[in-house]
Amino acid sequence: MTQSLSILHSPKLAAALGRLQSTTLRELLETDPGRVERDVVEVAGMRLDWTRQRLDATAWDALFALADEAGVSSALERQRAGEHVNTTEDRAALHMALRLPRGSRCVIDGHDVVEDVHEVLDAMAALVERVRAGTHTGYTGRAIRSVVNIGIGGSDLGPRMVCQALQPMAPAAVDGRPLDLHFVSNVDGAALDAVLRAVDPETTLFIVASKTFGTQETLTNARSARAWLLGHAGGRPEAVARHFVAVSTHAGRVAEFGIDTRNMFGFWDWVGGRYSVWSAIGLPIALYLGMDGFRAFLGGAHAMDRHVLESGARGNAALRMALVDIWNHNLLGACARVVLPYDERLKLLPSYLQQAEMESLGKGVRHDGTPVTEQTGPLVWGAVGTDGQHAFYQLLHQGTRWEPTEFIGVAHAEHALPEHHPILLANLVAQAEALALGKTADEAAREMAAEGLPPDVIERLAPHRSFPGNRPSTVILMERLDPSALGALVALYEHKIYVLATLWGINAFDQWGVELGKQLAGRVLEDFASPAAGHPHDPATTATLAWLRPRLTRG
Ligand code: F6P
Repeated sequence: MTQSLSILHSPKLAAALGRLQSTTLRELLETDPGRVERDVVEVAGMRLDWTRQRLDATAWDALFALADEAGVSSALERQRAGEHVNTTEDRAALHMALRLPRGSRCVIDGHDVVEDVHEVLDAMAALVERVRAGTHTGYTGRAIRSVVNIGIGGSDLGPRMVCQALQPMAPAAVDGRPLDLHFVSNVDGAALDAVLRAVDPETTLFIVASKTFGTQETLTNARSARAWLLGHAGGRPEAVARHFVAVSTHAGRVAEFGIDTRNMFGFWDWVGGRYSVWSAIGLPIALYLGMDGFRAFLGGAHAMDRHVLESGARGNAALRMALVDIWNHNLLGACARVVLPYDERLKLLPSYLQQAEMESLGKGVRHDGTPVTEQTGPLVWGAVGTDGQHAFYQLLHQGTRWEPTEFIGVAHAEHALPEHHPILLANLVAQAEALALGKTADEAAREMAAEGLPPDVIERLAPHRSFPGNRPSTVILMERLDPSALGALVALYEHKIYVLATLWGINAFDQWGVELGKQLAGRVLEDFASPAAGHPHDPATTATLAWLRPRLTRG
């Protein structure tokens, strides 16, 4: 494994930091015009722009040297080659193999997996063809019209985000309309109940998606959906075979649940949950967009894999993204990254990235178990940009804390109101400029004088109406949002995550941190059912249980 470095002790970085801490983005943008040439990378129909980061050529050099020292390119190569980079679970992390073209080779633990991958893709294609053509029928012989994906975390967020993003491109199925698509993740009965009220049991296909097929939320929802279906189908067990398919790595549990494993689409332990949208977990995408759309999504990701594996450091978009995070979080001290898509289609991207980044990088120990010496994964949050402008941007512009932002825009709109689009994108460009440059008190005063305000009011309001600026952002502009471009964008973030994990010396592919809460929830549930279960709890928890228990039993 790569030796972890102490980023904070790199003398070159420390020197760059010393200089840049007292240099503003205004100054950098004015005095270093070469940054537009140097700090923009174009790849896969995307323009990635780091010119508004508080970096200059020397700081970039120091960051590239850090990546070199950490062995980032050999780490990427080890991942591609199927080495067990997931050290705590002793597994490969080979989501890249899921998007390799047919006929390529990728050997994991002595076995070439590309054929297996394409076998599952072919099986998905057969189901997609039958459903979209109306020949996969329900228990009364009517064609499937609604698809309900039941899954959570990585078995939900990827397909949900992608289907939302590509919704304007969903082709009509046999009855002339795109399929109806629903996602149920929360174990809160309100979520499933709302969907079951909206769909017709005779024409609904349920996908139970769970890597482990042991997740409480998913199995609870799946059992309730099955009971609902059987209730409508007069208890005929063959209805389950027509209306339920499973996506999992765990055939035994799928069979135990009552889904015929011939209706199961498999994947493998070397696919992490939050990296699984490329596997059969992407079945809702394939059903919704058609198999060509899903294959284009895989193709875009594969093109990004090649870019990241084959580009030199300075042109490597994933490496640059990771190094900017190191700079902002480890050197300048930011603790979050705000993801701001200026596109309604990408409104779920911040949630998707929350899992991808925070579950991967929320680690406090290195591969060898020693504590890390610098901050690791930042908080990732965000929302569609224009909505955010009227909610939380006040703090981004004038609050006492600053956080780096990431703007994402798409040049081409896919709707019938193209006159809105320049307004939308003008806001994106303006916000990046405003955050970088701010407004001095003098500028604010001049503006107020031009508005005719009296000098005493100008003096009183100038501090309130000036902006500190110097708040860095990255601007990602996409030519268009189609399956291939979206595949490339998601893959780019995946690679960025792995590069960051390499720089910090942590494992991006486990998630032990979610286990404790799951374990305790099992005990609490038993305690709800009966105080006699008697699991020991601290006094605060005991008091909470005592308040809740009678209310839950009263219903
Ligand atoms: O929240 C933990 C987690 O294991 C995620 O990593 C995963 O994506 C999610 O639960 C769902 O797991 P599964 O697909 O096994 O149901």
